[in-house]
Amino acid sequence: MRRSAFLDLVAARSSVRRYDAGRPVSDEHLAAILEAARLAPSAGNAQPWRFVVVRDPAVRARLAAEAFSGIYQRTRRIAAPVYLALCGVHGATDFVGRAAGHSSYTLTDCSIAGEHAVLAAVELGLGTCWIGMFNRRRTRRLLGVPAGVDVIAMIALGWPAEPARAAPPAKGRKPLSAIAWLDAWGSPFGVDQSERV
Ligand SMILES: Cc1cc2nc3c(=O)[nH]c(=O)nc-3n(C[C@H](O)[C@H](O)[C@H](O)COP(=O)(O)O)c2cc1C
Repeated sequence: MRRSAFLDLVAARSSVRRYDAGRPVSDEHLAAILEAARLAPSAGNAQPWRFVVVRDPAVRARLAAEAFSGIYQRTRRIAAPVYLALCGVHGATDFVGRAAGHSSYTLTDCSIAGEHAVLAAVELGLGTCWIGMFNRRRTRRLLGVPAGVDVIAMIALGWPAEPARAAPPAKGRKPLSAIAWLDAWGSPFGVDQSERV
């Protein structure tokens, strides 16, 4: 079976950690990326995601100085023209989720929305990098995130500094046979197309 355009897009995404500082990300691009996030599914359609788009150079400088500091200092190297602060509002579905033995529907919902945004950005030719290594307390304070809302992740966004590679780097992913089974844990799935990616 021919690989779909969607799988090509997924395979083309990789974490970009160097950006073209002189090339801004337009409002239209940001709107398209956020629209993809807005359309994500969520438990009970709660839509707990919120995004703070950090683009002002002064705010980015404070983010680097205050939130990408100490044990998170390495994150300063991901100097992007835009960061999306992916935030999650805790609410009723968390309670339902916990009752159903799930740790947090908010986390699941926001992660889906975040990756929608990432894939929309990749389709536009932009680079992204999920960032988990940052000081959440300081980020909350800096961005004025209210109580009851978590900063779940930062997503770096911008035009990649590196010229597009002729061959994409190897993804280093586990084969399908190591991550998926048929009908019961440990029962081989059989069809494995993962070597092609
Ligand atoms: C939730 C999450 C947090 C991450 N945090 C960081 C981070 O703090 N710094 C970083 O350089 N990369 C971070 N990454 C990127 C991963 O290192 C990267 O996705 C992984 O190595 C696979 O490489 P690829 O994205 O190029 O396919 C994070 C990715 C995810 C999904």
